[in-house]
Amino acid sequence: MSDDTRTSETLAAIEAATSADAVEAIRIEALGKQGWISQALKTLGGMAPEERQAAAPRIQARREQVAEAIASKKAALESAALERRLASEVVDLTLPAPDAPRGSVHPVSQVMDELAEIFADMGFSAATGPEIEGDWHNFTALNMPESHPARAMHDTFYFPDAAPDGGKMLLRTHTSPVQVRTMMAQGAPLRIIAPGRVYRSDSDATHTPMFHQVEGLVIDRDITLGHLKWTLETFLKAFFERDDIVLRLRPSYFPFTEPSVEVDVGFAIEGGRRVLGGSGDEPGHGWMELLGSGMVNRRVIAMSGLDPDQWQGFAFGVGVDRLAMLKYGMDDLRAFFDGDVRWLKHYGFSFLDQPTLSGGVGARA
Ligand code: PHE
Repeated sequence: MSDDTRTSETLAAIEAATSADAVEAIRIEALGKQGWISQALKTLGGMAPEERQAAAPRIQARREQVAEAIASKKAALESAALERRLASEVVDLTLPAPDAPRGSVHPVSQVMDELAEIFADMGFSAATGPEIEGDWHNFTALNMPESHPARAMHDTFYFPDAAPDGGKMLLRTHTSPVQVRTMMAQGAPLRIIAPGRVYRSDSDATHTPMFHQVEGLVIDRDITLGHLKWTLETFLKAFFERDDIVLRLRPSYFPFTEPSVEVDVGFAIEGGRRVLGGSGDEPGHGWMELLGSGMVNRRVIAMSGLDPDQWQGFAFGVGVDRLAMLKYGMDDLRAFFDGDVRWLKHYGFSFLDQPTLSGGVGARA
């Protein structure tokens, strides 16, 4: 059989093949080590130069022709196989999705969302500040100069490096430095809340070295303690979803507010539990300390770059974790940060449970 005939037969066999295995067998027979084309190539070595010059291009051309035919047949068979699979495999989009484990929203995140929702309705925007602060923002600008005794109540964690302004770097002990930062960055008038993490060197059932606060700050021309009381009352009624929340304002002291007030909320004991609502002076009731607040100290306003003769306002700071415990009935703060999924399953919220004032801020999952 001449090599030309053999080539056309091989090409015809490739064309007729119906499986990748059949094509592979043909390839071995022609192009494999012992294949007839490979053998023909080997014979070139023993030829006289003129003979080789005439034969080589023919054999090379044959080899290329066969190799190309094999490659394109293989590709055609593969895509035909894919077509067949796509035609036979039908995806039923109406089947229920497999039940993947679903996470839940931590009560602290949920309560922060609720706070943002309630205060947004009163025209407050949310501000943030760094958790690693300089001691100027955390203390000095809040009227706690170095060696002020109030600094001792905020024992915290210091860093060896200096802050950008040359002061000490520390983990912020409260969200109040955001007051200073926001006044400096945005000027007045202002209505903000600043939720976030804060740190103190403290640890027992009701204190963790890291906890959450939300700061409130209103700066305008004619703000009074009356605005503070109304704002807190409106917030707490919406948050606890009770109209009978009663507040008691007690004179207190913070270096960054003057006058300062501690805000207590009345509660009753029902079935061994404290339930917020009603005056704490009624028989069987009591007052619970809830948050610190006051009129922003003139010095703080001045150190934040505003003229205290033109601008005044109120500020408050409240523990977010404590708000969550009071509203949702947890009794050990440490469990908030243990990362136990059983606790989260029990107290966590569905991610679909977005608080809205019309739908209720505290609907349980
Ligand atoms: N920063 C205070 C604290 O952490 C709380 C506070 C904030 C008091 C704003 C008054 C005004 O204890």
